[in-house]
Amino acid sequence: MKKILVTGGAGFLGSHLCERLLNEGNEVVCLDNYFTGQKTNVVHLLDNPYFELIRHDVTMPFFIEVDEIYNLACPASPVHYQYNPIKTVKTSVLGAVNMLGLAKRIKAKILQASTSEVYGDPQIHPQTESYWGHVNPIGERACYDEGKRAAETLFVNYHKQNKVRIKIIRIFNTYGPRMHPNDGRVVSNFIVQALQGKDITVYGDGSQTRSFCYYSDLLDGMIRLMNTGDDFTGPVNVGNPHEFTILELAEKVIRLTGSKSQIIRKPLPYDDTKQRKPDISLAKSKLGWEPKIELEEGLIKTIDFFRTIVK
Ligand SMILES: NC(=O)c1ccc[n+]([C@@H]2O[C@H](COP(=O)([O-])OP(=O)(O)OC[C@H]3O[C@@H](n4cnc5c(N)ncnc54)[C@H](O)[C@@H]3O)[C@@H](O)[C@H]2O)c1
Repeated sequence: MKKILVTGGAGFLGSHLCERLLNEGNEVVCLDNYFTGQKTNVVHLLDNPYFELIRHDVTMPFFIEVDEIYNLACPASPVHYQYNPIKTVKTSVLGAVNMLGLAKRIKAKILQASTSEVYGDPQIHPQTESYWGHVNPIGERACYDEGKRAAETLFVNYHKQNKVRIKIIRIFNTYGPRMHPNDGRVVSNFIVQALQGKDITVYGDGSQTRSFCYYSDLLDGMIRLMNTGDDFTGPVNVGNPHEFTILELAEKVIRLTGSKSQIIRKPLPYDDTKQRKPDISLAKSKLGWEPKIELEEGLIKTIDFFRTIVK
C-alpha cells in the first residue's frame, strides 16, 4: 500500500484522482484550500479509513511522509485564475517550491499537473512536447501560463540538481462530472444553459474547433505516467486529439439534454482561445495510452451530474 498526497484534491480532477487511488488500494491524503474545490467533492470518501482531508494552502510549507505526490493545486479556469492573478502565480511557483522541497526531503516521487497553456497561442498544430510555446508574459493569461511554465522549470531543475524523481503531464481540455458550474468553460456553460432552457451562446460562426478529454481517460494517463520508470520524466501531453466545432458541441448538448434552448451568436471576443490540439504520440509510445471515451458518451455522464446540481 502506497501513501499518496494529492494537492488540489478537492477540485474537479483531484477529487476523482483521490477516489481512483483509494480504489486501487492506496492510502490518500487530500490537501486543499477550497479556493475552487469543495468538500462536497470528497465528502463520500470521508468514511474511508485510508482517506484524510487537510485544509492547507500550498503557498505555505507543508510536511508529511508519503511515497508519491500529485501536485494539482491551482485554479484551472480563466475566470478563477484571473480573479487574483498574483495568488495564481504564487500558487504555481511557491506551491511547486514547497512540494518539490518536500519530495526532496522525504525522497518521494512527484508529478506536476501542467497544462497545454504552456504552449500559449501556438504557432504549430498539433502541439508536440518539443514545441517551446508562444506566450505573452504580460497578458491576461500569463499568471496561469507563466506560473505553470516556471513550475516546469523548477521541476526539471530539482530533478537535475537534486535527483528528485519528477513527472510532468501537460493536460489538455478535460471535462466531466464535478466541474464547477460557474467556471466559464464551454462544456459546463453549454450544459448549464441547456438544462436551464436558456439560449446557448456561440461566439463567432461556431466553426472554431476544440478537443475534449473525458476525466477518466485523463486520469489513466496521469497514473500511468506516475508509474513509469525514474528515467522518464516527461513532459508528456495527455488529451484527446479528436476535434469538434463549437457549433457541433452546442448541437450535441441540446440533443442530449432534450432542451428547447436556441443557439444564439455573439461576436468573437478579442482573446478567444485559439485552436489547441495535442500530439499524443509520446503518450502512446511511453505510456501505452490513448483516450477511449468518445465525446457523446462523456457528455451523457456529465449531463447526468449537472442535472443533480442545476436548478
Ligand atoms: N481541467 C482541465 O481541463 C485542466 C487542463 C490543464 C491543466 N489542468 C490542471 O489540473 C489541475 C486540476 O485542475 P481542475 O480542473 O481539477 O481544477 P479545479 O479548480 O477544480 O482544482 C484545483 C484545486 O486546487 C485547489 N487550490 C487552488 N489553489 C490552492 C492553493 N493555493 N492551495 C491549496 N489548494 C489550492 C482548489 O481549491 C481546487 O480544489 C490544475 O493544476 C490545473 O491547472 C486542468
